[in-house]
Amino acid sequence: MLWKVFLLALLAENSHGQNALYPMLRFQCSQLVHDRIDPLVNPGMVPSPHLHQLVGGNSLRPSMVHPAHDLPSLSTCTSCTFSEDFSNYWTAVLYFRARNGTFKRVPQAPGLYLKGNGGITVYYIPQGGATNKTQVTAFKPGFRMLVGDAAGTGPGPERKVCHRCMPAEGEMSHINCGAPDAQSMPTGFCEGGIRTVVTFPTCWDGVNLDSPDHMSHVAYAIGAKANDVGPTGTCPPSHPVVIPQVMYEVQWDTRQFNHKDLWPEDGSQPFVWSTGDTHGYSNHGDYVFGWKGDSLQRAMDARCTGDTCNVLEVQSTEEAMKCTVPRVVDEDVDGWLDVLPGNRTLF
Ligand SMILES: *[C@@H]1O[C@H](CO)[C@@H](O)[C@H](O)[C@H]1NC(C)=O
Ligand SMILES: *[C@@H]1O[C@H](CO)[C@@H](O)[C@H](O)[C@H]1NC(C)=O
Ligand SMILES: *[C@@H]1O[C@H](CO)[C@@H](O)[C@H](O)[C@H]1NC(C)=O
Repeated sequence: MLWKVFLLALLAENSHGQNALYPMLRFQCSQLVHDRIDPLVNPGMVPSPHLHQLVGGNSLRPSMVHPAHDLPSLSTCTSCTFSEDFSNYWTAVLYFRARNGTFKRVPQAPGLYLKGNGGITVYYIPQGGATNKTQVTAFKPGFRMLVGDAAGTGPGPERKVCHRCMPAEGEMSHINCGAPDAQSMPTGFCEGGIRTVVTFPTCWDGVNLDSPDHMSHVAYAIGAKANDVGPTGTCPPSHPVVIPQVMYEVQWDTRQFNHKDLWPEDGSQPFVWSTGDTHGYSNHGDYVFGWKGDSLQRAMDARCTGDTCNVLEVQSTEEAMKCTVPRVVDEDVDGWLDVLPGNRTLF
């Protein structure tokens, strides 16, 4: 059975009053690897505390310190559509917890375009849409950032990391954490799986490529609302530089677990993040910029849309899927596991 295409109503009125897709890069990155590494938050730590799914350039290492580690020059391939994008993108991983207490990794569906070995659909959204081509400043080499809290036990201050319980058929509404998305895990069966979205800030301090918490060098714009598309609102004086809005979309194919006799007898939901979190507040997204040269800036200036762009080099899904890296931490992450990778305590 084909995974349903999740069409997104990221539509804006064009100058002729017709709906047009808001200009944004939106492309697929196949899986590079599932591994217990975290080059941003725990550089060099092998194994890192919890499992991630990672996509992008194959220069991925447990430690990627700037400037010694230059992603575009050290990578020989990328798992993403645009072959000049050697960035790395990663999130937590979803597990199903059976009645007998064992865990099974939830497969990831191919992305938006029904292509690739389930990874992440990545978005870069410029400000101003097709008509107002306000300058958007692409990230600089060495730039990196984090959204979300791997230890989160309650809703975050911003609705920027969220879940949607997908219906069986295509889903036409906004993807950026507006209603009906929730920070908590869905509580019932989701016929079309669970979609998770991570939305990064759109304002940068213009100076720091990173910060101790990997967050404070960037900020969300003031006045931006959950359902806005792309950078909206006003950047605060402390973070005046408008950067592209990076967004991750992941489809967790929970369908094989949608049976009453597999779910807990007390009716609670059985999905657990690889952090050990049973409530849903600990998913997170990590980003390490690695586009070659000025390729991202060119694509933003050209207001390219979707996974084609005449100022970028494109590779086939087959080529992208060939790009994988071996797991650094040799452990089973796919069988029925007695404990989560890293023996995470459930919370
Ligand atoms: C635990 O439950 C799962 C799902 O029902 C099953 O596939 C697995 O074999 C069980 N493991 C043990 C040790 O009983
Ligand atoms: C274009 O967008 C910028 C930034 O949001 C805004 O300041 C400016 O007024 C807009 N220009 C037009 C013509 O809408
Ligand atoms: C997991 O951690 C618990 C303590 O939190 C310990 O009792 C148990 O032996 C550990 N299990 C494995 C397989 O390491």
